[in-house]
Amino acid sequence: MIQKKIFLAFVVISTVSLLLHHGGHLESWTMEAFYLGCPSLRSHPSPGLEPKHTHVAFLKTHKTASTTMQNLLFRFAERNNLTVALPVQSCTHQFCYPRTFTSHFVHPHTLPPSIITNHMRFNRAELQRLMPTDTVYITILREPSSMFESLFSYYNQYCQSFKRVPNSSLEAFLEDPWSYYRPNEKDSMYARNTLTFDLGGDKDRPPADAGYAQAFVAEVERVFTLVMIAEHFDESLVLLRHLLSWDLDDVLYVKLNMRTPGSKRSLSPDLPAKIRQWNALDARLYDHFNASLWQQLSAMGPACVAREVRLLRKAQERLVRSCFGGRMPQLRSAAQIKNKDLRPWQPSAKVDIVGYDLPANLSQGRSSQAQELCLKLIMPEVQYTQVLLRSQSLRYRRNYQQRPPQRPQPPEQPMRSPLPRHQQVGLHRIQPPAASPLGPGSGPGSTTTPRPAGGTQGRGTKLVQGSSQTESL
Ligand SMILES: *[C@@H]1O[C@H](CO)[C@@H](O)[C@H](O)[C@H]1NC(C)=O
Ligand SMILES: *[C@@H]1O[C@H](CO)[C@@H](O)[C@H](O)[C@H]1NC(C)=O
Ligand SMILES: *[C@@H]1O[C@H](CO)[C@@H](O)[C@H](O)[C@H]1NC(C)=O
Ligand SMILES: *[C@@H]1O[C@H](CO)[C@@H](O)[C@H](O)[C@H]1NC(C)=O
Repeated sequence: MIQKKIFLAFVVISTVSLLLHHGGHLESWTMEAFYLGCPSLRSHPSPGLEPKHTHVAFLKTHKTASTTMQNLLFRFAERNNLTVALPVQSCTHQFCYPRTFTSHFVHPHTLPPSIITNHMRFNRAELQRLMPTDTVYITILREPSSMFESLFSYYNQYCQSFKRVPNSSLEAFLEDPWSYYRPNEKDSMYARNTLTFDLGGDKDRPPADAGYAQAFVAEVERVFTLVMIAEHFDESLVLLRHLLSWDLDDVLYVKLNMRTPGSKRSLSPDLPAKIRQWNALDARLYDHFNASLWQQLSAMGPACVAREVRLLRKAQERLVRSCFGGRMPQLRSAAQIKNKDLRPWQPSAKVDIVGYDLPANLSQGRSSQAQELCLKLIMPEVQYTQVLLRSQSLRYRRNYQQRPPQRPQPPEQPMRSPLPRHQQVGLHRIQPPAASPLGPGSGPGSTTTPRPAGGTQGRGTKLVQGSSQTESL
């Protein structure tokens, strides 16, 4: 009897101490597990209990909220000591975009990687050689008409096809695109089917070629486990979190790389249809993957999704308020931002890309770790890429100083990951995509030697020779 009581007391004390120690995790776990109306949540791995998936290739598309996503991945990598593949310095902060990606563009101090996210033109075959075999491929799309308006204003002073347009008028461009657009000149990829181009496709394939568009969508579907949608960013993050078994804390963000409201314009009613027609391949991709996003969300249960989006926004607001002195942060133009590490890159004098500054009293009552998190949360991509390259190079040198000098593995060899491989946690679609006979990395036009950016040879022309049905990304 006494033994039984002692045993019971022991059980009670253990349970209480467990609750005290793991209160946060248990609370969210139990809430999740027993939330009525969320049956599909129960069958998903419970966050905090399953190992997180750490091998991610995020194809960063242009003007799609992808900078916000990149920042989130950078922070995840830093917290978990993961290596992020970064560009060699001669590529700047992009992997020599718009040239098709090859592993020669990756800085040797950032090998072998767990995560890759800087801008590139997608090349599945090369990424497959670089990344671990259980890498999850993710990308993000945005509705073509608002995206094109954004591209038109952002690259107005760079892209020749836009510079030719009188009065920088979007209407004039759409009235007769072919009188301004040259498929093979520098920066033409910003002027037509940019999403298709970034994904490795042929932006100038005539819309009449329905077989090509269909095969291309199918290929994207096969390679990418998740295609996020910028207009439904938080909902996309819910799917991402479940796919990767990440915690809510792993998907908190502050929106980055935005224009001032003054740099944006609303479209007259007839423009969206014209934009979709001009960017027919992108429109088709978008419609397909927006529909498929909503199918996945509806499979998870709208109530569950809504609840998780609420939790995400609440946690986000708490974090942001703690960083910005109890208030939401004020957007500032680059000139107003005192800390130069926080000034976003400006595309031209006509467009203001806004950013944030930290409050001067940030250090008061905060650990240096908390300050660091606040800083990284709003750090623009160019600076963050440099910061990461510095810290990873330091780590690389430390690791290799203790060993006999060894040349970095030539990129032609398959890379091994130094990290313990996680089990494939319920990710039924993660498989290395099968090799495609027409991959940009294996085709006759494959780029292994540097070519000046903007060279016309190869851009958009080398992709499809022969049957379009096996077009690679
Ligand atoms: C990351 O590395 C640092 C220094 O080597 C170590 O102190 C820390 O515990 C590591 N963190 C994780 C999550 O592995
Ligand atoms: C250019 O735009 C300005 C202001 O919107 C307008 O007054 C002018 O007539 C336009 N010029 C041409 C050539 O369209
Ligand atoms: C995406 O699809 C959903 C569901 O069909 C629809 O409600 C939503 O308006 C679409 N989003 C955009 C931006 O078209
Ligand atoms: C920082 O200053 C702002 C006002 O400028 C104030 O509201 C906030 O409480 C201060 N934060 C700390 C941590 O002192």
